[in-house]
Amino acid sequence: MKILGIESSCDETGVALVHAEATGTPTLLAHALHSQVEMHEAYGGVVPELASRDHIRRVLPLARQVLQVAGATLADVDQIAYTRGPGLAGALLVGAGVACALAAALGRPVVGVHHLEGHLLSPFLSSDPPEFPFIALLVSGGHTQLMRVDDVGHYLLLGETIDDAAGEAFDKSAKLLGLGYPGGPALARLAEFGDASTFTLPRPLLHSGNLDFSFAGLKTSVRTQFMKLGSNVCEQDRAHLAASTQEAIVDVLVRKSVQALRETGLRRIVVAGGVGANARLRERLNSECAKRQFRVHYPELALCTDNGAMIALAAAMRWQRGAPAQADHAFNVLPRWPLATA
Ligand code: KG4
Ligand code: ZN
Repeated sequence: MKILGIESSCDETGVALVHAEATGTPTLLAHALHSQVEMHEAYGGVVPELASRDHIRRVLPLARQVLQVAGATLADVDQIAYTRGPGLAGALLVGAGVACALAAALGRPVVGVHHLEGHLLSPFLSSDPPEFPFIALLVSGGHTQLMRVDDVGHYLLLGETIDDAAGEAFDKSAKLLGLGYPGGPALARLAEFGDASTFTLPRPLLHSGNLDFSFAGLKTSVRTQFMKLGSNVCEQDRAHLAASTQEAIVDVLVRKSVQALRETGLRRIVVAGGVGANARLRERLNSECAKRQFRVHYPELALCTDNGAMIALAAAMRWQRGAPAQADHAFNVLPRWPLATA
């Protein structure tokens, strides 16, 4: 079974080809990605209309590239998967439209995949794949959630952010510090030169007793500290503030993850989504989990942020469990779509 996956929910166009047998972990044959970061940089964030137009330009050339690298043709594709949601409506419609048109032309079935399901299953394509059940820490630009995952399609939400997502906290703090978009990687790079203990920043909801997060207050504290430093702030102080900000975000994510493992009695955690690429998060989580003999799994670094491989993979794992593909090639995207109902 060969599945072509198309991701277009936000500012990355991703296409991939995955091979699956009836059982066993599916394998990635090829994937290609075009990031729109440079295009949106000038605006300090994603411009939805520009994102949609760029997906239209990129998706077919990327599909051609993937098939060529995999040594396959469209005739070899057995199923086409696309990101149905959540995400930007116009951007989602590009992937959905192309997927359904291709599937109709080829006479193949099509499936709409939940973007977050793709993220949380993405570590199955790594050299150290997890086993069910596990806790998933989903940390992206739009979501911060802790879930209990018993199998594909069996997701229980344990806690989530009540305001900003972890990625948003990185991005907004980075903007305050005068760093570009997306701010997460830029803030992480600057943080390497700083001392995280320099500034005391809040850890909201750390002792709330539940597994929810709140990051909206953090940017206010970062702003206050940055204002105090004045207009001729030196590079070293910016680095200290970046390191302190990163530590505040990472600290809450790590402690709540350990709490989720403890409360559920599970011994395995999967980290997925763009913020999962953060080196300090990985370092802290690895050491806290090693102390308690918990296993941590990550996607390959290239598959942490949005990509087509995770969409093809999720469709493949659903197919292995007998989930039906769509009966027709009509499509409707779901910009807001709770994972529990996927
Ligand atoms: O999963 P993703 O690619 O897109 C969404 O579905 O949102 O996540 C993007 C988010 C952005 O907020 C970006 O700043 C953050 O992930 N990010 C990072 C790092 N790499 C990406 N945040 C912190 N450190 C990183 N190394
Ligand atoms: Zn994502």
